[in-house]
Amino acid sequence: MPGTCRVNEKGRLEIGGVEAGELARRFGTPLYVFDEEAFDQRVREFQAALARSWRDYQLLYAGKAFLTTGFAALVAQYGLGLDVVSGGEIYTALQGGFPPARMVFHGNNKTVEELDFALRVGVGRVVVDSADELHRLQQVAAARGQVTPIWLRVTPGIEAHTHHYIQTGQLDSKFGVPLAGGQALAVLQEALQLPNVRLMGVHAHIGSQILDPTPFQLVAPLLVQLLAQLREQAGVTLRELDLGGGFAARYTKEVIPPVAQVVGALASALATACDQQQVPAPKLFLEPGRALVAEAGITLYRVGTCKTIPGVRTYVSVDGGMADNPRVALYQATYRACLPDRLQEPATETVTVAGRFCESGDVLVRDALLPPVHSGDLLAVFTTGAYHYSMASNYNRVPRPAVVTVRAGQAEVLVERETYADLVRLDRIPSAWRRPADVAGSAEPVAVSAHGQAEASAAGR
Ligand SMILES: Cc1ncc(COP(=O)(O)O)c(C=O)c1O
Repeated sequence: MPGTCRVNEKGRLEIGGVEAGELARRFGTPLYVFDEEAFDQRVREFQAALARSWRDYQLLYAGKAFLTTGFAALVAQYGLGLDVVSGGEIYTALQGGFPPARMVFHGNNKTVEELDFALRVGVGRVVVDSADELHRLQQVAAARGQVTPIWLRVTPGIEAHTHHYIQTGQLDSKFGVPLAGGQALAVLQEALQLPNVRLMGVHAHIGSQILDPTPFQLVAPLLVQLLAQLREQAGVTLRELDLGGGFAARYTKEVIPPVAQVVGALASALATACDQQQVPAPKLFLEPGRALVAEAGITLYRVGTCKTIPGVRTYVSVDGGMADNPRVALYQATYRACLPDRLQEPATETVTVAGRFCESGDVLVRDALLPPVHSGDLLAVFTTGAYHYSMASNYNRVPRPAVVTVRAGQAEVLVERETYADLVRLDRIPSAWRRPADVAGSAEPVAVSAHGQAEASAAGR
């Protein structure tokens, strides 16, 4: 079981010392549960691996995996940096008290407003994604009378996903400036000419859920070679190098190499390349998202309709689905599930755990081996901490679940459950579309209970 999940004396699932059933009763379902200690362990593993393998380093957390104001506050306490990709992520992190100087601003199409916002609040590094953006940033910085520190994101021609990686030389990607044909080198040289940006380093991110160190070992020397070329042609030695995220998490049966092994292999490839190219060892940045938070997340659902189609399959439908976990529909992601209150019963049935949303593809776990499932059972899906809450939607106008964090027997809310009122908060009815009574302002508002049911308002019926 991941993180602090364990089966307690009563044969029930406990997360961070709190029974899953109790969490469901207190906070309702679907519920995202964040296991703080699991996150703590992962951060420590990365920090220890970096400390052992490299002299000067900074671990960043990629906020796109999961970010709330509370979580930003926790990440800040660990002394991590933060990879942000939008004005909204910057704002969220600031609201959580995260120091802007430790933020690194990514994105292939940051707007002028976002760039201006980032500079105004003092984001630490802007990661320039193209020649086009370099010039846009120069203008924004000049208009503000600032000089802003930057990295350049390069596309190294290696794309990795799980055990597969391809070396294409010329990568077809919307992100970054290709190394191929000297394009990245040319943009670096351009950056050196601009008065309002200060070039500090280079960055590459080559994919996600990378299960072995090889692609990282291939990328490191390519970036070092770029640093050597820049030194040769422009006489400038850059001191910062970010090898991105992409480190794997365990969803089902994947074998994940220890963090120390991957980081050690990556660092030794980097050290060798620096020696060979006689480039001074740069400060090394890594920015994992998934590897730090995926296994710290568990989603709790309540089972509703169970339906067996003889000779075909049994569908067990839960009260969430693709709106709180779009990864199955998007990437055919696979998951492990269990019945938290019935862990000691033998798993004898293979069922399909389906969501409640109006799409046939709304399935959470295709073949889950569970004890016979009944309506009303609690069901847990593991490894839902990354790219779940952050990718959640209100499809079918279903309010998004709450997020709670658990540690040492205590649970606290990170994000409140949305209500029906939240769903319509930003909606407007054009005046020509309103019923005359509404225009006159005499429409009766419908109040909504904590559980989302409509009630007659106190002032009304
Ligand atoms: C630039 C960059 N850094 C870091 C990450 C985090 O990746 P992961 O969650 O796979 O570690 C991503 C993910 O898309 C990314 O684009």
